[in-house]
Amino acid sequence: MLVSAKEMLEKARAGHYAVGQFNINNLEWTKAILLTAEEMKSPVILGVSEGAGKYMCGYKTIVGMVEGMIEGLGITVPVALHLDHGSYEGALKCIAAGFSSVMFDGSHYPIEENIAKTKELVAICENKGLSLEAEVGAIGGEEDGVIGGGEVASADECKMIADLGVTMLAAGIGNIHGKYPANWAGLRFDVLEEISCKVGEGMPLVLHGGTGIPADMIKKAISLGVSKINVNTECQLAFAAATRKYVEAGKDLEGKGFDPRKLLAPGVEAIKATVKEKIELFGSANKA
Ligand code: 13P
Repeated sequence: MLVSAKEMLEKARAGHYAVGQFNINNLEWTKAILLTAEEMKSPVILGVSEGAGKYMCGYKTIVGMVEGMIEGLGITVPVALHLDHGSYEGALKCIAAGFSSVMFDGSHYPIEENIAKTKELVAICENKGLSLEAEVGAIGGEEDGVIGGGEVASADECKMIADLGVTMLAAGIGNIHGKYPANWAGLRFDVLEEISCKVGEGMPLVLHGGTGIPADMIKKAISLGVSKINVNTECQLAFAAATRKYVEAGKDLEGKGFDPRKLLAPGVEAIKATVKEKIELFGSANKA
């Protein structure tokens, strides 16, 4: 059964670790992440961008696939199915389709509009027992067509959004979707600390752009209140590299190496290894 992310994130906030959100693209991705979370006895959040939602034939298809897989694979750890960087309309569609968690990314609206729309979704999610993520400031870079300017969040605006009753809050602190450029200045821990103090200890903070953030920065971010960390690109890079290796070694031409179950297997193993490494770093193993 899918669960809201509320309980797992409140436990993470209190226990000084973070739960990973790993974005999914297809059946192989989903299976690899669920099996690894189960093996590690870790709660997990499956992230779905609106683009990936379209690619996987709509939110209902995804709910069916994930619920079927939880049952078919005998997954016992808490699993939340979460819309990533959703529009207001996208959030409503996911709620109707059976997602257990949604993000409304109103960071590109003026703060008054972000507040008004987030407030409406708080009421809907509360009523249905779903978790809601909101965003202030913007994550730099591009993810599935969502482009962010990388504005650093204002702690006062974070407080206004947190006070609406959202479950978790994403704040721009110099983080970027995709690979970090060589001249990246690093995370703004001064800003994170200020936000954390303003919103208070009970509010789980979300760190987007988890790909390529060095381990020491991840640990520091967790110590300052980050309880959910999103990873997408790193699994894609690991999958692509392993698939390339298989094909370049000519394995698809040997025997029945072209069978998709064989062709995609190295990529799936690479996703599993990436997820395992992140769960260890985030400290969520054995917290299910
Ligand atoms: P990365 O692709 O940089 O890991 O970011 C993922 C993310 O933040 C999803 O919202």
